[in-house]
Amino acid sequence: MDKFILDLSRKIKNKKLEIAVIGLGYVGFPLALEFVRKRVMVTGLEIDRDRLKSIINRISYISDISNQELRASLDSGYFKASAEFSDIKNADVIMVCVPTPLKGKNLPDISFIKSAVKEAALHIKKGALVILESTTYPGTTEEEILPIFEDRGFTHGKDFYLCFSPERIDPGNKKFPVHKIPKVVGGLSLKATRLAMLVYGIIIKQVIPVSSARCAETVKLLENTYRLINIGLIDELSMMAHKMKIDIWEVVGAASTKPFGFMPFYPGPGVGGHCIPKDPLYLHWKAKSFGFHSRFISLASNVINYMPEYIVKRVEEALNKRNKKIKNAKILIMGVTYKKDIKDLRKSPSIDVINSLRRHGAIVAYSDPIIPYLKLNEIDLKSVVLNAGKIRKFDCVLIATDHSGVDYPGLLKNAKLIFDSRNVFRGKHKEKVERL
Ligand SMILES: NC(=O)c1ccc[n+]([C@@H]2O[C@H](COP(=O)([O-])OP(=O)(O)OC[C@H]3O[C@@H](n4cnc5c(N)ncnc54)[C@H](O)[C@@H]3O)[C@@H](O)[C@H]2O)c1
Repeated sequence: MDKFILDLSRKIKNKKLEIAVIGLGYVGFPLALEFVRKRVMVTGLEIDRDRLKSIINRISYISDISNQELRASLDSGYFKASAEFSDIKNADVIMVCVPTPLKGKNLPDISFIKSAVKEAALHIKKGALVILESTTYPGTTEEEILPIFEDRGFTHGKDFYLCFSPERIDPGNKKFPVHKIPKVVGGLSLKATRLAMLVYGIIIKQVIPVSSARCAETVKLLENTYRLINIGLIDELSMMAHKMKIDIWEVVGAASTKPFGFMPFYPGPGVGGHCIPKDPLYLHWKAKSFGFHSRFISLASNVINYMPEYIVKRVEEALNKRNKKIKNAKILIMGVTYKKDIKDLRKSPSIDVINSLRRHGAIVAYSDPIIPYLKLNEIDLKSVVLNAGKIRKFDCVLIATDHSGVDYPGLLKNAKLIFDSRNVFRGKHKEKVERL
């Protein structure tokens, strides 16, 4: 058997493997702790001082990691967090989980990946396996990451190995934590892929090899583009159905009874987070460099981006029906995070809804059990602690995110009008609840 594969297999068997995870965010932190649970030594590299401080204070900042889990990991002696890249010098495997946002006019910003990898390349040992997990456009691993190591005199397949493996985590999804989600891996060589399969095999039952890093990069973009387009489609159909006086929720519910060939998607105020709104635009951008314009991605993005404005229009109509103007109307936004029960405000459509309502002259407040303060650009608000008297003061309560633990019956009892963009009330109480 090949020496590297043999060495790595032996280290895994003898629990002598060392892993470094760069970026302890929604992706990197749960991934790191999965290995810690299997008694693998993990060093987490994090440059955000607040996040590091939080770990030192043994307080988790990721909804999917409890303080108890974090404490157990620290106490096990298998996990440490650091801001010093020299701490990865003994790592056999380096996993890169840093952000990949957009810049300017929807352009990919892979500067976080490049800077993390440049720093790592100064410290990695010979024979290390580097795996990029950050979502990015096809070709990044080969065209952008490989040259960073080559510039340092490393030869792929001799001095180090390189792979791409998309993270597919779904924050808040208790049914599918990291170890239950099959992992796709594509290396710059077959040997790189096999090494990565051995490593992920420690924590995940099903590891699926693909023929190249480029294919693995595209797998993730296909998954998220599929979601974007289907959400755009159902958003458009919900607007159409409203005009035609058809209940879209009832339609989706009934269509979902088909046991094959249909998957339900639901309308909403837009999409947020660090994945669906931007990943397809990475693909769109790369395709352009091949002279290809993806019409589906542009169309779905446009429809979804219109949703906050559409919801405000519907709220205005609902108020007008009750002889109330939107100007100076008091509106309470319920839920400001992009997703139910997840403390993440990135690209949250609730923020666009708040801004749009304000442009229409409404007086906006919000209530969110997990976001006590909202300070974003022009917005500087404190979450309203709800009681009957406070709810009665609002002209409309707009459910933007359907967090658990909210007193929805209390809202229903006391609100003058509710606009339900998440189907919390299942189309009931029509006299008071308008539904998207
Ligand atoms: N959030 C999700 O649901 C999700 C799911 C699948 C894939 N992804 C992808 O995974 C990647 C990471 O996303 P995330 O949500 O975890 O982001 P995040 O912002 O929560 O975490 C990234 C972390 O990397 C740190 N970081 C940045 N540069 C660094 C450096 N040079 N050294 C050390 N740490 C550094 C940041 O401080 C941050 O804490 C992105 O490419 C994203 O598209 C995200």
